[in-house]
Amino acid sequence: MTTGLRPDAARDAALAAAEARFAGQRARVDAALRGFCDRYLAGLEPVVAEAIRYSLLGEGKRLRPILVLAAHEACGGAGDAATLAAAVEVVHAYSLVHDDLPCMDDDDMRRGRPTVHLVYGVPAATAAGLAMVPLAARAALDAAAALGLGEAARGAVVRELMRASGAGGMIGGQQLDLEGEGESLSLERLERIHSAKTGALILAAAVLGGLAAGAGAARLEALRRYGASIGLAFQIADDVLDVTATTDQLGKTAGRDLELQKSTYPALLGVAGAMARAEALVEDACGALDAVGLLTPALEHVARFTVRRRS
Ligand code: IPE
Ligand code: IPE
Ligand code: MG
Ligand code: MG
Ligand code: MG
Repeated sequence: MTTGLRPDAARDAALAAAEARFAGQRARVDAALRGFCDRYLAGLEPVVAEAIRYSLLGEGKRLRPILVLAAHEACGGAGDAATLAAAVEVVHAYSLVHDDLPCMDDDDMRRGRPTVHLVYGVPAATAAGLAMVPLAARAALDAAAALGLGEAARGAVVRELMRASGAGGMIGGQQLDLEGEGESLSLERLERIHSAKTGALILAAAVLGGLAAGAGAARLEALRRYGASIGLAFQIADDVLDVTATTDQLGKTAGRDLELQKSTYPALLGVAGAMARAEALVEDACGALDAVGLLTPALEHVARFTVRRRS
């Protein structure tokens, strides 16, 4: 069933049901993450393995893996995509470990606990992050094979994930983010940074769900447009929450962007202006999927959650 764009009671009920399924999907992802740890961490230095486990099993929202599951389901995928979804979360968790390092955002708290480098030390946290990328690639390849994908589709899955993680995606965005500290960036430059550092992996999560389900070009393109829009919206909301939510709500220290002299959407547009931009992106995202009949309640719920969340 797709939700369409017209608000009505049936659509509200479908969205509420999608929200209710979130908890179950989180549990599936958490089980897959524990499976990842059991399968791939055995040969590592114990302190590095422990640091990875700590970063992965902390209380995250699991938005990216849930998005993989939702896109896979929307495209009629067979089998369980939770292992593939977990591989995306591994890349995300790595990005958080490094983002918090003293040489980056220098943060003490993440997911309501001390950051990885405070618990295990900077060398182990650095090594943990570096080790997580190739492990995520391996896990994605193994998961694609287990889903029965052919060789070309397996390659496409790993390529998509690694491209999003690399210099043209998250890493590149993170570098630009650091270089931009203390500068007042234009909205155009900030959008490029946000789309790269955060949007690229969220976009990849949507596309990976489609690839895993054998979706055709038109559906993959729609997922790409959806992912790009909600990926940017997600980081706009993150900027807004940094100034409107408390440390307790966020599980990470509020107000850091101002302290680090980052350019942000609320600084450029005000909180209301930033939220309006994020909401408009969510509408674009839903419209892209609706145009190809892919706007399921789950994918619409994920889109709306990116901006309505409180943490
Ligand atoms: C935080 O991501 C970092 C950004 C890309 C904004 P999340 O807000 O998804 O963090 P967790 O996974 O729920 O902890
Ligand atoms: C992080 O952006 C983007 C990543 C790729 C991790 P932020 O630096 O704003 O994320 P938080 O606020 O620390 O979670
Ligand atoms: Mg950062
Ligand atoms: Mg940060
Ligand atoms: Mg932030």
